[in-house]
Amino acid sequence: MSLPTRRIPALDTDVSALGYGCMGISWAYVAPEDRDAEAGVAIIAEALASGVTFLDTADCYGAGHNEQVVGRALAAADPKPVVATKAGLIGNIVDGEVVMSRNGRPEHIKAACDASLQRLGVEVIDLYYLHRVDPAVPLEESWGAYAELAAAGKIRAAGLSEVSVAQAGIAHAILPVAAIQSEFSLWARDAAGGTTADGEEAGDLLAWTADHGAIFVPFSPLGRGFLTGNVTAADLRAGDFRTQLGKWSGDAADANQRIVDGVRRVADRHGVTPAAIALAWVLAQGDHIIPIPGTTKSANLQANLAAAGVTLSADDLAELDGLPPAVGGRY
Ligand SMILES: NC(=O)c1ccc[n+]([C@@H]2O[C@H](COP(=O)([O-])OP(=O)(O)OC[C@H]3O[C@@H](n4cnc5c(N)ncnc54)[C@H](OP(=O)(O)O)[C@@H]3O)[C@@H](O)[C@H]2O)c1
Repeated sequence: MSLPTRRIPALDTDVSALGYGCMGISWAYVAPEDRDAEAGVAIIAEALASGVTFLDTADCYGAGHNEQVVGRALAAADPKPVVATKAGLIGNIVDGEVVMSRNGRPEHIKAACDASLQRLGVEVIDLYYLHRVDPAVPLEESWGAYAELAAAGKIRAAGLSEVSVAQAGIAHAILPVAAIQSEFSLWARDAAGGTTADGEEAGDLLAWTADHGAIFVPFSPLGRGFLTGNVTAADLRAGDFRTQLGKWSGDAADANQRIVDGVRRVADRHGVTPAAIALAWVLAQGDHIIPIPGTTKSANLQANLAAAGVTLSADDLAELDGLPPAVGGRY
């Protein structure tokens, strides 16, 4: 099966317009004791067989678990997809809660790259993101490690995650920024002119990437499942990362249901799922945008890939653009 493609200029290659985010196989939404590596390898294989050629993972998704699963899927893959992974963010589970910390020191980034290469079973990482800027380390130093890794042939291209336009400019002067990955969806539009995960003024990252020959990679394009209309706070186990997020609970979740209702209205007209409409809206925001929805289920994977076949009219887009802003913070 083939999907429409989009270009990654820094890699001089085309990938499927919809990538696949692997995180949920190992982290954030699954309890550590419920991780299923076999099922993870199988759903990645199905994504590849369905035309996906762009995978997204990170070293912190289950402390290496996710990259190991991706590595197993890659070993069996022919042809090989483009693989993006990340360093600089560390995840722990403390008293049942997800607790994140950062390490942007160059020696950490370089050691993390070697570990990721080993877990993925590859000689070079196609796209290597700095997962978060470490406030304790100047960005120039962290990004300098990426420049060294590129010069050493260990990575083909480098990207940033949850940065501002100002930070992207600082990095770009040292080593071209091939991609920026930030949360972006119908209920999280900060990347087009709001704040970063650190509460800094983001600027318009969609415009910046387009202007600099970079791709923009929206993460959590389905609003971590909320926009599909099939996942509510009542469905979440204790310890699910989403229980820590303001949009998901109480009055905020009730208010945000209006966004889902609006997505469903458009979906019903097209005879597709709300998930497909939520992704089609993201795809319509620019030809350099490659979202990476995640799922652990075959039926949801196919529903998401159906977005590639949806053409939203100007009226559809105006209706979706006009949905109420989300209530509750992103983190
Ligand atoms: N850079 C960063 O800081 C960062 C942060 C978060 C995520 N990411 C990346 O972005 C990727 C995607 O983000 P995400 O996984 O957070 O959120 P997402 O793709 O917006 O949503 C995933 C959630 O939605 C559910 N889902 C997916 N398709 C569905 C469908 N058609 N119908 C009903 N439910 C559906 C999934 O559950 P099921 O498994 O049950 O389908 C899962 O709980 C991640 O895998 C990761 O690679 C990056």
